[in-house]
Amino acid sequence: MRRKVIAGNWKMNMLPNEAISFIEQITPLIKDTKNEVILCVPYTDLFYSLLTAQNTNIKIGAQNMHWEEKGAYTGEVSGQMLKSVGVEYVIIGHSERRQYFAETDETVNKKVKTALANELKPIICIGETLEQREQGKAEEVITKQTMLALEGISKEQMKNIVLAYEPIWAIGTGKTATSEDANNSIKWVRNKVEELYGKEIADEVIILYGGSVKADNAKELFSTTDIDGGLVGGASLKVDEFSKIVLV
Ligand code: PGA
Repeated sequence: MRRKVIAGNWKMNMLPNEAISFIEQITPLIKDTKNEVILCVPYTDLFYSLLTAQNTNIKIGAQNMHWEEKGAYTGEVSGQMLKSVGVEYVIIGHSERRQYFAETDETVNKKVKTALANELKPIICIGETLEQREQGKAEEVITKQTMLALEGISKEQMKNIVLAYEPIWAIGTGKTATSEDANNSIKWVRNKVEELYGKEIADEVIILYGGSVKADNAKELFSTTDIDGGLVGGASLKVDEFSKIVLV
């Protein structure tokens, strides 16, 4: 049985005092959950969030990192820096980064490798546009993104990887993929992992759904055969809503 993982992606929201207050408020509400809970917070919240989340079941992640270990890359943050403050997870290749910050399948792959080398667990995002879906290319697009993101990653390393299928047309739009469509797309991704690494790894790998996950659709999405939880944007900013998603 795969564990369920609920990851919040705060994007460019929440000041440190808001992060601290959010974590303090949600901790007692979700303390008994068996699900793994991760909050991917802005860099400026990392330290405060890590301190506040100490001795709780909340893990802290970042939302991006650079692929180089160090050097003259003004404004960038390295994997080693994230690891040094105690970060466990890092989102890589979110569609907003692919769309607005020139992230490519190649940079995603480099970042995944550097993250793993620094003992960070990458949450790798993949997903098709509406146009690609309407043209019947969704499977081709997401399986290719999966393959390229994982190039050169060993079977052993796959144990520390989480994949997140996020159809771009469902992110922040209020349009959720139907649980059936989302589950089917995730099956394509899992089949690709099987083709690359064999059935055992494919059965184990955690694959999340993301795109307008809310308290009132989470249960249906998460009770399908292949969706192992969610990467939650907007609904992860509210204690009440996010705690309900964690507890579904
Ligand atoms: P959303 O964002 O839940 O606000 O649609 C999800 C994401 O971008 O990870």
